[in-house]
Amino acid sequence: MKTLLYFLLLLAAPFALHSEHKITVIGTGYVGLVSGACLAEFGNDVLCCDIDKSKIRQLDNGEMPIFEPGLKELVQKNSHLNFSSNVADAIRKNDIILICVGTPMASTGEADLSALYSAAKLIGENLNSPKTIYIKSTVPLGAVKKIEADIQRHNKNSTDFSVAYLPEFLREGSAVQDFMHPDRVVVGSESKEIQKQVSEMLKPLQQRNVPFLFTKIESAEAIKLVANSFLAVKISFINEIANLCDQTGADIFEVAKGIGSDSRIGNKCLNPGPGYGGSCFPKDIQAILNNAQELGVDLKVITAATEANHYQPKVVIEKLKNTLQAPLKGKTIGILGLAFKANTDDVRDSPALRVVSKLLEMGAKIQVYDPQAMLNAKKTYPDLVYCKTSYETAKNVDAIMLLTEWEEFSQLNWVQIHNSMNTPFLIDARNILDKDNLGKIGFILTGIGRPGKEFSH
Ligand code: UGA
Repeated sequence: MKTLLYFLLLLAAPFALHSEHKITVIGTGYVGLVSGACLAEFGNDVLCCDIDKSKIRQLDNGEMPIFEPGLKELVQKNSHLNFSSNVADAIRKNDIILICVGTPMASTGEADLSALYSAAKLIGENLNSPKTIYIKSTVPLGAVKKIEADIQRHNKNSTDFSVAYLPEFLREGSAVQDFMHPDRVVVGSESKEIQKQVSEMLKPLQQRNVPFLFTKIESAEAIKLVANSFLAVKISFINEIANLCDQTGADIFEVAKGIGSDSRIGNKCLNPGPGYGGSCFPKDIQAILNNAQELGVDLKVITAATEANHYQPKVVIEKLKNTLQAPLKGKTIGILGLAFKANTDDVRDSPALRVVSKLLEMGAKIQVYDPQAMLNAKKTYPDLVYCKTSYETAKNVDAIMLLTEWEEFSQLNWVQIHNSMNTPFLIDARNILDKDNLGKIGFILTGIGRPGKEFSH
C-alpha cells in the first residue's frame, strides 16, 4: 500500500511542481498586492516589490497599506509571499514579471504612464535571463507595444523576453473575491508558451472552468477599457432613468428589476446614485475618449455618459435644496460616507467628495463620517468637521446626506439620529434605507428615483 502511495505521489509531483511559478510583482497598490497575494495562494512563489520603502516595511510587519476585505488574512497566512523594496534585484530573481504600477490620470487628462516606463526601463536593464513580462496596469490603447519597445531599448544584452497584456477586472472592496472568482481571464498574447504559462499560474481557475480568452494584445487592451466604459454607460443610463422616475412616480427598483431580468440587459450596475467615481471609470473613459479623438473616431455614447455623470451630483444637491426649501448658505449638513463606494477607504474621484465640494461652495457647514475613508479625505479636505461616529455627525444638523452605501448606515439607530437633528431631512443618494420605516420615525426621506407616497401627478 505504502509503495502504491509513494508511486502515486511521484506521479503527482511533477504536476504540482509544474504549476508553481516564481513571479515578481512590481507595484503593491490594489492590483499588485491583491494579485500577488492571490497568486501565492494559488501555489506560486511570489515576490512583491515597490520603490516605496515605507509600504514594504509596513507589509513586512503584516500591516496593509490599503483597506481591502480579506487581504490582510491572505497576506499574513501566505509563506509563498515575500516583499522587497529592491525592484532591480526582484526583477533579476524571477523570470515571470507582472507590472502592476499605477497609471493615474494626469492633470492634462492623459494617462500618466511614467511609473510604467520606469518599470520598463528597470526591466530592460535587468534582463539577466529570458523573461515573460505581463502588463496588468490599465493602459491606453496601443501602449503595450510601446512599453515592449521601451524594454527592448534598455535591453543592452539583447536577452530574450516576451510581453503580454493581462488586464485586471477586480473591483475595489471585493478585489480578493474577484481575483479568486473571475467571470473570465483575458490574456492578450498569441504565444502558445505564454498561454500555457498563464494557465499554470492560474491553475485553480482553470480547474474551476473559468473561461480563459486568449486574444491579440490590441484586443485585450480594448476589452479592458471597453468593459469599464460599458459599465459606466450603464450606470449613467440608470441614473438618468432614476431622474425620470422621480418625475413620473415610477420606482427605479422596480424598473431596474424589470429591465435587468432580461438576460440581454442583465441586473448588474443598475443602482442609481450620485454618479460613478473611483480611480478607474473616470480615468479609463477619458483614456478611451482621448484614443478615439486621436484616431478621428467620435464616441458619442461614452461622451454622453461622462456628461451625465458630471451632472448627477447636482441632481443630489437639487434634492437637498428642494427638501430644505431654503438656500444652503449657513445650513449644517451631516454627510454619511466619503469613499467612492462602500468597503473601501479610497476617495479618488469620489462622487461624495464632489457633492461635499459643491456644498462648501454654496456656503453650507459640513460635518462628516466614513468608516474607513476619513484619513484619505483629510488629505484633500483638512478643514471639514470629521466625526467619530454617524451619531456625532447627525447632531444638530439641518439635513443628512447619505452618499456611500456602507452597510452599517442601514443598521443605525435612526430614532436616536432623528432626535438629535434640527430638522429630520434625509437624502439617501444610494437608496439603501427603508423609506417606510424611516417615514414612520418622522424622517422626510428622499431617494434617487424612488418617489414615495408624497408623489402626485
Ligand atoms: C471598476 C470595474 O468594476 C472593475 O471591473 C475594474 O477592474 C476596475 O474598475 C478597474 O478598472 O480597475 P471599481 O472602480 O473598483 O471597479 O468599482 P465599481 O464597483 O465598478 O464601481 C465604480 C463606481 O460606479 C463607484 O463609484 C460605484 O459607486 C458606481 N456604481 C457602481 C454605481 O453608481 N451604480 C452601480 O450599479 C454600480
